[in-house]
Amino acid sequence: MAVKESKQRLQCIMGRCFSQLTILCFTYYLSIVAVGCNRQEEKDVKLLTTTGENYLRIRPGVPFKIALFADLHFGENAWTNWGPQQDLNSIKVMSTVLDDETPDFVIYLGDVITANNIPIANASLYWDQATSPTRDRGIPWASVFGNHDDAPFIWPLEWFSAPGIPQLICPATSSPYSGEEECSFRGTQRIELMRNEIERNTLSYSQRGPKDLWPSVSNYVLQLSSSDKPQLPVAFLYFLDSGGGSYPEVISSSQAEWFKYTSQEVNPDSRVPEIIFWHIPSKAYKEVAPRFMIFKPCVGSINKERVSAQEAEMGIMNILSKRPSVKAVFVGHDHGLDWCCPYSKLWLCFARHTGYGGYGNWPRGARILEINEQPFSIKSWIKMEDGHVHSEVILST
Ligand SMILES: *[C@@H]1O[C@H](CO)[C@@H](O)[C@H](O)[C@H]1NC(C)=O
Repeated sequence: MAVKESKQRLQCIMGRCFSQLTILCFTYYLSIVAVGCNRQEEKDVKLLTTTGENYLRIRPGVPFKIALFADLHFGENAWTNWGPQQDLNSIKVMSTVLDDETPDFVIYLGDVITANNIPIANASLYWDQATSPTRDRGIPWASVFGNHDDAPFIWPLEWFSAPGIPQLICPATSSPYSGEEECSFRGTQRIELMRNEIERNTLSYSQRGPKDLWPSVSNYVLQLSSSDKPQLPVAFLYFLDSGGGSYPEVISSSQAEWFKYTSQEVNPDSRVPEIIFWHIPSKAYKEVAPRFMIFKPCVGSINKERVSAQEAEMGIMNILSKRPSVKAVFVGHDHGLDWCCPYSKLWLCFARHTGYGGYGNWPRGARILEINEQPFSIKSWIKMEDGHVHSEVILST
């Protein structure tokens, strides 16, 4: 079943490549190839890596640019006038960044939606809005889950006072009983959100991850390939689900094992650089956090709150810090932090709060990542909504 699905998806991607996405394929030449899941999904891996034509290639002589959209929080206060206006503001931030930076790829770094504020049965409708600026520009993307993405709706206390409960939008239904289910407000589970994103978007490179890691879903790796040889990896991008919402905020020991196993399999001699993305900072971020001002070697512009880390450390940091090819970890979650600090041989970085949803009024922006093939380097900076650029840092050479 899984094999069949991914085959269909490939054909879809290719179909789009030769129709609507001709410009993307032949102008951008970016090259991301989905690889590796785990033992059980070996058939998927083969399909994805031997098909060949699925490859999108990096533009020769031009660095590969990624925009990180963190903490968009679509659907916040969905029942008021304020909430939907914040979503429009967030679309403006993303549109501005996409038009100014013209990235080759976008990463949605979790808390795409505030599910606990969404009083409709299907939160994918808000998820779709959040990915629309990227989709509209024909730019491919990948996403990971944050702690707000699959939470059930939390009924506001004030709804039970004088003005009462606002009229809720439940889909019209012809069957007499199914309406109850469609107005259940139980939240849209990770697996449904991911299925809806993948099946409806040929530009999405997200994956559902190995089944034996569920309820943790957004665990997968993408290969960034050389401009002249699609089989030659320039970097591997790892996505991990740091939990929260329907289960604890943690990267489990099986996820750590999965990373260890997969990285050894796809990059056995640790030669190709690896970059890691998840939502909630691990406890290691607390160890390197600047106390007040941000001084070198840390680089950033706001340090306005404490790191609120995952609930426990179950081994991932030990594996990452011992593996020479791991260059940096990127997280969101803390809207008042945007720094990068070194931690043993790698960098721990926050993105920048991109959305108008979520707490905090610090000006919005997006962290940009630039990977250069020859000579190899990973650079990063923050692009603000008003066009201002700051906090440039070289993360690897
Ligand atoms: C939820 O919305 C998504 C995308 O908007 C759609 O593909 C999916 O079919 C919907 N699911 C249900 C159960 O209505």
